[in-house]
Amino acid sequence: MKITIIGAGGVRTPLVLKSILARQERLGLTELALMDVDAEHLELIRALSTPVLEAGKAAFRTLWTTDTREAIQDADYVLTTFRVGGIASRVVDEQVPLRYGVLGQETTGPGGFAMALRTIPPILEYIEQVRALAPDAWIINFTNPAGLITETIINRAGFKRAIGICDNPPTMHRAIASFLNAQPDEVFLEYFGLNHLGWVQAVHYRGQDMLPTLIAEVKKLGEMLDLPFDPGFIEALGMLPNEYLYFYYRNREAVEHILQAGQSRAQQIAPLHQRLFDELQRIHQAGGSVAEMEAAYREYLHGRHATYMSIETGSKVHEELAEAELGEAAEGYAGVALEVIGCLSGGETGILVLNVPNQGAIVGMEEQDIVEVPCYLARGLVRPIAIGSVPDHALGLMKRVREYERLTVEAAVTGSYTTALKALALHPLVPSYGVARQILDDYLEQHSDLFPRLS
Ligand code: G6P
Ligand code: MN
Repeated sequence: MKITIIGAGGVRTPLVLKSILARQERLGLTELALMDVDAEHLELIRALSTPVLEAGKAAFRTLWTTDTREAIQDADYVLTTFRVGGIASRVVDEQVPLRYGVLGQETTGPGGFAMALRTIPPILEYIEQVRALAPDAWIINFTNPAGLITETIINRAGFKRAIGICDNPPTMHRAIASFLNAQPDEVFLEYFGLNHLGWVQAVHYRGQDMLPTLIAEVKKLGEMLDLPFDPGFIEALGMLPNEYLYFYYRNREAVEHILQAGQSRAQQIAPLHQRLFDELQRIHQAGGSVAEMEAAYREYLHGRHATYMSIETGSKVHEELAEAELGEAAEGYAGVALEVIGCLSGGETGILVLNVPNQGAIVGMEEQDIVEVPCYLARGLVRPIAIGSVPDHALGLMKRVREYERLTVEAAVTGSYTTALKALALHPLVPSYGVARQILDDYLEQHSDLFPRLS
Protein backbone atom coordinates (compact mmCIF):
# COMPACT_ATOMS: atom_id res chain seq x y z
CA MET A 1 0.00 0.00 0.00
CA LYS A 2 1.16 3.49 -0.82
CA ILE A 3 -0.15 6.55 1.01
CA THR A 4 0.56 10.04 -0.28
CA ILE A 5 0.21 13.22 1.73
CA ILE A 6 -0.22 16.41 -0.27
CA GLY A 7 0.70 19.29 2.00
CA ALA A 8 3.09 17.32 4.19
CA GLY A 9 5.04 20.47 5.10
CA GLY A 10 2.14 21.38 7.40
CA VAL A 11 2.21 21.20 11.16
CA ARG A 12 -0.10 18.18 11.36
CA THR A 13 2.29 15.78 9.63
CA PRO A 14 4.01 14.40 12.75
CA LEU A 15 0.55 13.51 14.13
CA VAL A 16 -0.43 11.80 10.89
CA LEU A 17 2.82 9.87 11.06
CA LYS A 18 2.09 8.67 14.56
CA SER A 19 -1.32 7.41 13.45
CA ILE A 20 0.25 5.72 10.45
CA LEU A 21 2.98 4.09 12.50
CA ALA A 22 0.44 2.67 14.92
CA ARG A 23 -1.30 0.92 12.05
CA GLN A 24 1.47 0.23 9.55
CA GLU A 25 1.38 -3.54 9.85
CA ARG A 26 -2.38 -3.86 9.74
CA LEU A 27 -2.46 -1.71 6.64
CA GLY A 28 0.46 -3.44 4.97
CA LEU A 29 1.95 -0.06 4.22
CA THR A 30 4.97 -0.22 1.94
CA GLU A 31 5.44 3.39 0.90
CA LEU A 32 4.63 6.83 2.23
CA ALA A 33 5.11 9.86 -0.01
CA LEU A 34 5.24 13.23 1.69
CA MET A 35 4.84 16.08 -0.75
CA ASP A 36 4.71 19.83 -0.33
CA VAL A 37 5.29 22.77 -2.65
CA ASP A 38 7.11 24.55 0.18
CA ALA A 39 10.55 22.91 0.22
CA GLU A 40 11.74 24.73 3.34
CA HIS A 41 8.80 23.76 5.51
CA LEU A 42 8.93 20.23 4.17
CA GLU A 43 12.59 19.95 5.15
CA LEU A 44 11.89 21.14 8.68
CA ILE A 45 8.91 18.84 9.12
CA ARG A 46 11.11 16.06 7.81
CA ALA A 47 13.75 16.86 10.43
CA LEU A 48 11.08 16.82 13.12
CA SER A 49 9.52 13.61 11.81
CA THR A 50 12.55 11.47 11.12
CA PRO A 51 13.06 10.55 14.79
CA VAL A 52 9.32 9.83 15.06
CA LEU A 53 9.64 7.42 12.14
CA GLU A 54 12.71 5.79 13.62
CA ALA A 55 11.18 5.46 17.07
CA GLY A 56 8.04 3.97 15.52
CA LYS A 57 10.14 1.46 13.57
CA ALA A 58 8.79 2.52 10.22
CA ALA A 59 8.91 -0.53 7.97
CA PHE A 60 7.88 1.39 4.87
CA ARG A 61 9.81 3.48 2.37
CA THR A 62 9.41 7.23 2.77
CA LEU A 63 9.69 9.71 -0.03
CA TRP A 64 9.92 13.40 0.85
CA THR A 65 9.43 15.37 -2.30
CA THR A 66 8.24 18.59 -3.92
CA ASP A 67 7.39 16.68 -7.08
CA THR A 68 3.65 16.03 -7.24
CA ARG A 69 3.86 13.43 -9.96
CA GLU A 70 6.39 11.32 -8.16
CA ALA A 71 4.36 11.58 -4.96
CA ILE A 72 1.05 10.60 -6.55
CA GLN A 73 2.31 7.86 -8.88
CA ASP A 74 0.61 4.55 -7.98
CA ALA A 75 -0.77 5.82 -4.68
CA ASP A 76 -3.62 3.89 -3.05
CA TYR A 77 -4.65 6.74 -0.76
CA VAL A 78 -4.03 10.43 -1.31
CA LEU A 79 -4.49 12.66 1.74
CA THR A 80 -4.95 16.30 0.82
CA THR A 81 -4.17 18.76 3.58
CA PHE A 82 -2.84 22.04 2.28
CA ARG A 83 -3.44 25.75 2.74
CA VAL A 84 -2.76 27.87 -0.32
CA GLY A 85 -0.70 30.88 0.69
CA GLY A 86 -0.09 29.57 4.20
CA ILE A 87 -1.16 31.24 7.42
CA ALA A 88 -0.61 34.73 5.97
CA SER A 89 -3.49 34.20 3.59
CA ARG A 90 -5.71 33.04 6.45
CA VAL A 91 -5.00 36.39 8.10
CA VAL A 92 -6.34 38.14 4.99
CA ASP A 93 -9.32 35.76 4.76
CA GLU A 94 -10.36 36.72 8.26
CA GLN A 95 -9.43 40.40 8.27
CA VAL A 96 -11.31 41.56 5.19
CA PRO A 97 -14.87 40.79 6.33
CA LEU A 98 -14.16 42.16 9.81
CA ARG A 99 -13.59 45.58 8.21
CA TYR A 100 -17.26 45.52 7.27
CA GLY A 101 -18.43 44.16 10.60
CA VAL A 102 -18.87 40.67 9.18
CA LEU A 103 -17.51 37.47 10.73
CA GLY A 104 -13.86 36.77 9.88
CA GLN A 105 -13.35 33.06 10.37
CA GLU A 106 -11.24 30.39 8.70
CA THR A 107 -14.06 28.29 7.19
CA THR A 108 -17.38 29.89 8.06
CA GLY A 109 -18.67 32.88 6.12
CA PRO A 110 -16.54 35.01 3.79
CA GLY A 111 -13.27 33.59 5.18
CA GLY A 112 -14.23 30.13 3.98
CA PHE A 113 -15.34 31.58 0.65
CA ALA A 114 -11.94 33.20 0.10
CA MET A 115 -10.11 30.06 1.17
CA ALA A 116 -12.23 28.01 -1.22
CA LEU A 117 -11.53 30.32 -4.16
CA ARG A 118 -7.80 29.94 -3.57
CA THR A 119 -8.00 26.20 -3.08
CA ILE A 120 -10.33 25.02 -5.83
CA PRO A 121 -8.01 25.57 -8.83
CA PRO A 122 -5.07 23.66 -7.31
CA ILE A 123 -7.27 20.87 -5.96
CA LEU A 124 -8.67 20.37 -9.46
CA GLU A 125 -5.14 20.05 -10.78
CA TYR A 126 -4.25 17.48 -8.17
CA ILE A 127 -7.37 15.49 -9.06
CA GLU A 128 -6.30 15.39 -12.69
CA GLN A 129 -2.92 14.08 -11.63
CA VAL A 130 -4.50 11.43 -9.44
CA ARG A 131 -6.73 10.41 -12.34
CA ALA A 132 -3.69 10.04 -14.58
CA LEU A 133 -1.18 8.53 -12.16
CA ALA A 134 -3.23 6.65 -9.57
CA PRO A 135 -6.71 6.18 -11.03
CA ASP A 136 -7.79 3.65 -8.40
CA ALA A 137 -6.71 5.74 -5.45
CA TRP A 138 -9.05 7.11 -2.79
CA ILE A 139 -8.74 10.78 -2.00
CA ILE A 140 -9.18 11.66 1.63
CA ASN A 141 -9.60 15.37 1.91
CA PHE A 142 -8.71 17.26 5.08
CA THR A 143 -8.33 20.54 3.22
CA ASN A 144 -10.69 23.21 4.44
CA PRO A 145 -13.34 24.30 3.85
CA ALA A 146 -13.72 20.54 3.83
CA GLY A 147 -17.34 20.26 2.65
CA LEU A 148 -16.85 22.66 -0.20
CA ILE A 149 -13.58 21.08 -1.32
CA THR A 150 -15.12 17.61 -1.17
CA GLU A 151 -18.00 18.98 -3.27
CA THR A 152 -15.39 20.17 -5.79
CA ILE A 153 -13.66 16.79 -5.91
CA ILE A 154 -16.76 14.62 -6.17
CA ASN A 155 -19.33 16.75 -7.95
CA ARG A 156 -17.19 19.10 -10.02
CA ALA A 157 -14.23 16.94 -10.96
CA GLY A 158 -16.43 13.83 -10.92
CA PHE A 159 -13.90 11.91 -8.83
CA LYS A 160 -16.18 9.63 -6.83
CA ARG A 161 -13.65 7.80 -4.68
CA ALA A 162 -13.31 10.69 -2.29
CA ILE A 163 -14.22 11.42 1.30
CA GLY A 164 -14.04 14.64 3.27
CA ILE A 165 -13.13 14.53 6.93
CA CYS A 166 -13.32 16.75 9.97
CA ASP A 167 -12.24 16.08 13.52
CA ASN A 168 -15.17 17.91 15.04
CA PRO A 169 -17.89 15.21 15.03
CA PRO A 170 -15.50 12.51 16.32
CA THR A 171 -14.43 14.88 19.07
CA MET A 172 -18.07 15.39 20.09
CA HIS A 173 -18.56 11.64 19.89
CA ARG A 174 -15.63 10.90 22.22
CA ALA A 175 -16.74 13.53 24.71
CA ILE A 176 -20.35 12.30 24.75
CA ALA A 177 -19.23 8.68 25.19
CA SER A 178 -16.99 9.66 28.03
CA PHE A 179 -19.84 11.62 29.64
CA LEU A 180 -21.90 8.42 29.52
CA ASN A 181 -18.96 6.43 30.87
CA ALA A 182 -19.11 4.39 27.70
CA GLN A 183 -16.66 3.39 25.02
CA PRO A 184 -17.05 5.39 21.80
CA ASP A 185 -18.07 2.33 19.81
CA GLU A 186 -20.92 1.60 22.23
CA VAL A 187 -22.51 4.94 21.36
CA PHE A 188 -24.15 5.85 18.07
CA LEU A 189 -24.55 9.53 17.35
CA GLU A 190 -27.29 10.57 14.99
CA TYR A 191 -25.26 13.45 13.66
CA PHE A 192 -26.30 15.32 10.54
CA GLY A 193 -25.45 18.48 8.67
CA LEU A 194 -22.88 19.98 6.38
CA ASN A 195 -19.26 20.31 7.42
CA HIS A 196 -19.00 22.79 10.32
CA LEU A 197 -22.80 23.09 10.30
CA GLY A 198 -24.18 20.08 12.09
CA TRP A 199 -26.35 18.83 14.93
CA VAL A 200 -26.69 15.71 17.07
CA GLN A 201 -30.34 14.71 17.07
CA ALA A 202 -30.07 11.44 18.98
CA VAL A 203 -27.51 9.56 21.05
CA HIS A 204 -28.17 5.82 21.02
CA TYR A 205 -26.69 3.87 23.87
CA ARG A 206 -27.80 0.48 25.17
CA GLY A 207 -31.03 0.55 23.25
CA GLN A 208 -32.06 4.02 24.36
CA ASP A 209 -31.86 7.53 23.04
CA MET A 210 -29.87 9.29 25.72
CA LEU A 211 -30.19 12.75 24.18
CA PRO A 212 -33.05 13.89 26.45
CA THR A 213 -31.01 12.85 29.49
CA LEU A 214 -27.95 14.58 28.12
CA ILE A 215 -29.92 17.72 27.47
CA ALA A 216 -31.32 17.62 31.00
CA GLU A 217 -27.72 17.68 32.18
CA VAL A 218 -26.60 20.02 29.49
CA LYS A 219 -24.90 22.47 31.77
CA LYS A 220 -22.35 19.85 32.75
CA LEU A 221 -22.22 18.38 29.27
CA GLY A 222 -21.86 21.81 27.65
CA GLU A 223 -18.84 22.49 29.81
CA MET A 224 -17.36 19.15 28.97
CA LEU A 225 -17.85 19.66 25.25
CA ASP A 226 -16.79 23.30 25.53
CA LEU A 227 -20.00 24.19 23.77
CA PRO A 228 -20.32 27.97 23.54
CA PHE A 229 -24.10 28.01 24.03
CA ASP A 230 -26.42 28.69 26.93
CA PRO A 231 -27.96 25.53 28.37
CA GLY A 232 -31.39 27.11 27.92
CA PHE A 233 -30.78 27.51 24.22
CA ILE A 234 -29.70 23.90 23.79
CA GLU A 235 -32.79 22.76 25.68
CA ALA A 236 -34.98 24.83 23.40
CA LEU A 237 -33.22 23.51 20.32
CA GLY A 238 -33.55 19.92 21.51
CA MET A 239 -30.35 19.00 19.71
CA LEU A 240 -26.65 19.40 20.40
CA PRO A 241 -25.15 21.87 17.96
CA ASN A 242 -21.64 21.53 16.55
CA GLU A 243 -19.55 24.31 18.09
CA TYR A 244 -19.26 25.97 14.68
CA LEU A 245 -22.97 26.85 14.89
CA TYR A 246 -21.81 29.43 17.40
CA PHE A 247 -20.97 31.55 14.37
CA TYR A 248 -24.60 31.40 13.28
CA TYR A 249 -26.56 31.35 16.51
CA ARG A 250 -24.34 33.88 18.22
CA ASN A 251 -22.94 35.68 15.25
CA ARG A 252 -23.10 39.13 16.74
CA GLU A 253 -21.18 38.12 19.86
CA ALA A 254 -18.58 36.32 17.77
CA VAL A 255 -17.93 39.40 15.64
CA GLU A 256 -17.89 41.69 18.67
CA HIS A 257 -15.44 39.48 20.53
CA ILE A 258 -13.07 39.29 17.59
CA LEU A 259 -13.25 43.05 17.05
CA GLN A 260 -12.70 43.69 20.74
CA ALA A 261 -9.69 41.38 20.81
CA GLY A 262 -8.27 43.40 17.91
CA GLN A 263 -7.19 40.20 16.23
CA SER A 264 -8.70 37.13 14.66
CA ARG A 265 -7.68 33.51 15.20
CA ALA A 266 -5.20 33.58 12.32
CA GLN A 267 -3.33 36.48 13.92
CA GLN A 268 -3.33 34.64 17.19
CA ILE A 269 -1.76 31.51 15.76
CA ALA A 270 0.56 33.12 13.17
CA PRO A 271 3.21 33.92 15.82
CA LEU A 272 2.96 30.37 17.21
CA HIS A 273 3.59 29.06 13.72
CA GLN A 274 6.46 31.42 13.15
CA ARG A 275 8.05 30.51 16.45
CA LEU A 276 7.75 26.81 15.72
CA PHE A 277 9.38 27.04 12.32
CA ASP A 278 12.08 29.45 13.58
CA GLU A 279 12.87 27.07 16.42
CA LEU A 280 12.96 24.06 14.14
CA GLN A 281 15.25 25.94 11.79
CA ARG A 282 17.60 26.92 14.59
CA ILE A 283 17.74 23.42 16.08
CA HIS A 284 18.10 21.82 12.66
CA GLN A 285 21.01 24.07 11.76
CA ALA A 286 22.69 23.37 15.05
CA GLY A 287 22.72 19.67 14.26
CA GLY A 288 19.20 18.77 15.37
CA SER A 289 18.56 17.64 18.92
CA VAL A 290 15.51 15.38 18.78
CA ALA A 291 14.38 16.26 22.29
CA GLU A 292 14.58 19.98 21.59
CA MET A 293 12.61 19.68 18.38
CA GLU A 294 9.93 17.65 20.04
CA ALA A 295 9.75 20.09 22.92
CA ALA A 296 9.24 22.97 20.48
CA TYR A 297 6.52 21.00 18.72
CA ARG A 298 4.72 20.11 21.95
CA GLU A 299 4.82 23.70 23.08
CA TYR A 300 3.31 24.70 19.79
CA LEU A 301 0.49 22.12 20.07
CA HIS A 302 -0.28 23.17 23.64
CA GLY A 303 -0.34 26.84 22.68
CA ARG A 304 -2.66 26.24 19.77
CA HIS A 305 -4.97 23.97 21.69
CA ALA A 306 -5.15 26.17 24.77
CA THR A 307 -6.28 29.19 22.77
CA TYR A 308 -8.74 27.39 20.47
CA MET A 309 -12.00 29.40 20.18
CA SER A 310 -10.88 31.70 22.99
CA ILE A 311 -10.98 34.94 21.00
CA GLU A 312 -14.24 34.13 19.24
CA THR A 313 -16.14 33.15 22.37
CA GLY A 314 -14.44 35.70 24.60
CA SER A 315 -13.69 32.87 27.00
CA LYS A 316 -10.59 32.13 28.96
CA VAL A 317 -7.95 29.99 27.34
CA HIS A 318 -8.24 26.30 28.12
CA GLU A 319 -6.21 24.56 30.74
CA GLU A 320 -3.08 22.78 29.68
CA LEU A 321 -3.94 19.28 28.62
CA ALA A 322 -2.23 16.25 30.04
CA GLU A 323 0.11 14.63 27.53
CA ALA A 324 -2.24 11.73 26.77
CA GLU A 325 -5.21 14.04 26.26
CA LEU A 326 -3.18 16.29 24.04
CA GLY A 327 -2.23 13.29 21.93
CA GLU A 328 -5.86 12.28 21.62
CA ALA A 329 -7.13 15.75 20.88
CA ALA A 330 -4.34 16.41 18.43
CA GLU A 331 -4.64 13.11 16.60
CA GLY A 332 -8.07 14.29 15.43
CA TYR A 333 -7.94 14.37 11.68
CA ALA A 334 -5.15 11.86 11.40
CA GLY A 335 -6.98 9.28 13.48
CA VAL A 336 -10.13 9.57 11.37
CA ALA A 337 -8.18 9.37 8.11
CA LEU A 338 -6.37 6.23 9.20
CA GLU A 339 -9.56 4.58 10.42
CA VAL A 340 -11.10 5.29 7.03
CA ILE A 341 -8.11 3.74 5.29
CA GLY A 342 -8.27 0.71 7.57
CA CYS A 343 -11.89 0.13 6.59
CA LEU A 344 -11.52 0.85 2.89
CA SER A 345 -8.53 -1.39 2.50
CA GLY A 346 -10.43 -4.45 3.60
CA GLY A 347 -9.74 -5.53 7.12
CA GLU A 348 -11.81 -3.32 9.35
CA THR A 349 -15.38 -2.10 9.48
CA GLY A 350 -16.53 1.02 11.17
CA ILE A 351 -19.02 3.83 11.53
CA LEU A 352 -17.60 7.30 11.13
CA VAL A 353 -19.07 10.73 10.51
CA LEU A 354 -17.78 11.75 7.09
CA ASN A 355 -18.47 14.16 4.26
CA VAL A 356 -20.03 12.18 1.43
CA PRO A 357 -22.85 12.54 -1.13
CA ASN A 358 -26.18 12.45 0.69
CA GLN A 359 -27.63 9.51 -1.27
CA GLY A 360 -30.93 9.87 0.54
CA ALA A 361 -29.50 10.01 4.07
CA ILE A 362 -31.07 13.35 5.02
CA VAL A 363 -34.59 13.79 3.72
CA GLY A 364 -34.81 17.05 1.80
CA MET A 365 -31.19 17.22 0.68
CA GLU A 366 -30.35 16.22 -2.88
CA GLU A 367 -28.73 12.87 -3.70
CA GLN A 368 -25.42 14.47 -4.66
CA ASP A 369 -25.21 17.15 -1.96
CA ILE A 370 -22.14 16.65 0.18
CA VAL A 371 -23.37 16.18 3.73
CA GLU A 372 -21.70 15.24 7.00
CA VAL A 373 -23.36 12.14 8.40
CA PRO A 374 -22.41 8.81 9.98
CA CYS A 375 -21.28 6.36 7.35
CA TYR A 376 -20.86 2.63 7.42
CA LEU A 377 -17.48 1.60 6.07
CA ALA A 378 -16.45 -1.86 5.06
CA ARG A 379 -14.56 -3.59 2.30
CA GLY A 380 -14.02 -0.65 0.06
CA LEU A 381 -17.52 0.77 0.55
CA VAL A 382 -18.69 3.93 2.21
CA ARG A 383 -22.43 4.24 2.74
CA PRO A 384 -24.18 7.03 4.60
CA ILE A 385 -26.61 5.82 7.24
CA ALA A 386 -30.20 6.98 6.89
CA ILE A 387 -30.95 9.93 9.16
CA GLY A 388 -34.43 10.63 7.85
CA SER A 389 -36.18 13.91 8.48
CA VAL A 390 -34.59 16.77 10.33
CA PRO A 391 -36.10 19.98 11.70
CA ASP A 392 -36.99 22.57 9.07
CA HIS A 393 -34.79 25.27 10.55
CA ALA A 394 -31.76 22.98 10.20
CA LEU A 395 -32.72 21.83 6.72
CA GLY A 396 -33.32 25.41 5.61
CA LEU A 397 -29.93 26.54 6.85
CA MET A 398 -28.19 23.58 5.26
CA LYS A 399 -29.86 24.22 1.93
CA ARG A 400 -28.95 27.86 1.91
CA VAL A 401 -25.32 27.12 2.76
CA ARG A 402 -25.21 24.23 0.27
CA GLU A 403 -26.34 26.65 -2.45
CA TYR A 404 -23.65 29.15 -1.43
CA GLU A 405 -21.09 26.32 -1.63
CA ARG A 406 -22.24 25.22 -5.07
CA LEU A 407 -22.09 28.79 -6.38
CA THR A 408 -18.64 29.31 -4.88
CA VAL A 409 -17.31 26.24 -6.68
CA GLU A 410 -18.94 27.44 -9.88
CA ALA A 411 -17.37 30.89 -9.50
CA ALA A 412 -13.91 29.40 -8.96
CA VAL A 413 -14.24 27.15 -12.00
CA THR A 414 -15.80 29.64 -14.41
CA GLY A 415 -14.02 32.74 -13.12
CA SER A 416 -17.31 34.60 -13.06
CA TYR A 417 -17.34 37.72 -10.87
CA THR A 418 -21.14 37.76 -10.93
CA THR A 419 -21.37 34.20 -9.67
CA ALA A 420 -18.80 34.87 -6.95
CA LEU A 421 -20.77 37.91 -5.83
CA LYS A 422 -24.01 35.96 -5.88
CA ALA A 423 -22.43 33.19 -3.78
CA LEU A 424 -21.18 35.60 -1.16
CA ALA A 425 -24.34 37.69 -1.09
CA LEU A 426 -26.43 34.55 -0.51
CA HIS A 427 -24.33 33.39 2.43
CA PRO A 428 -26.56 33.68 5.50
CA LEU A 429 -23.84 35.52 7.44
CA VAL A 430 -23.39 38.25 4.83
CA PRO A 431 -25.88 41.00 5.61
CA SER A 432 -26.27 42.62 2.20
CA TYR A 433 -25.38 42.50 -1.43
CA GLY A 434 -23.47 45.80 -1.13
CA VAL A 435 -21.33 44.44 1.69
CA ALA A 436 -20.74 41.27 -0.31
CA ARG A 437 -19.39 43.39 -3.15
CA GLN A 438 -17.08 45.35 -0.87
CA ILE A 439 -15.74 42.16 0.65
CA LEU A 440 -15.23 40.51 -2.73
CA ASP A 441 -13.45 43.53 -4.20
CA ASP A 442 -11.26 43.77 -1.15
CA TYR A 443 -10.30 40.09 -1.44
CA LEU A 444 -9.51 40.49 -5.12
CA GLU A 445 -7.14 43.29 -4.28
CA GLN A 446 -5.52 41.70 -1.23
CA HIS A 447 -5.17 38.16 -2.50
CA SER A 448 -4.38 39.13 -6.09
CA ASP A 449 -2.26 36.26 -7.44
CA LEU A 450 -3.67 33.65 -5.10
CA PHE A 451 -7.20 34.20 -6.33
CA PRO A 452 -8.62 32.96 -9.61
CA ARG A 453 -9.13 35.86 -12.03
CA LEU A 454 -12.74 36.92 -11.93
CA SER A 455 -14.44 38.89 -14.66
C1 G6P B 1 -11.31 22.37 14.10
C2 G6P B 1 -11.91 22.16 12.74
C3 G6P B 1 -10.87 22.30 11.68
C4 G6P B 1 -10.22 23.64 11.79
C5 G6P B 1 -9.64 23.82 13.17
C6 G6P B 1 -9.16 25.23 13.34
O1 G6P B 1 -10.43 21.32 14.39
O2 G6P B 1 -12.52 20.93 12.60
O3 G6P B 1 -11.45 22.13 10.41
O4 G6P B 1 -9.21 23.80 10.82
O5 G6P B 1 -10.61 23.59 14.14
O6 G6P B 1 -8.30 25.30 14.43
P1 G6P B 1 -7.27 26.50 14.54
O7 G6P B 1 -6.40 26.13 15.66
O8 G6P B 1 -6.55 26.54 13.22
O9 G6P B 1 -8.09 27.72 14.75
MN1 MN C 1 -13.09 20.67 10.46
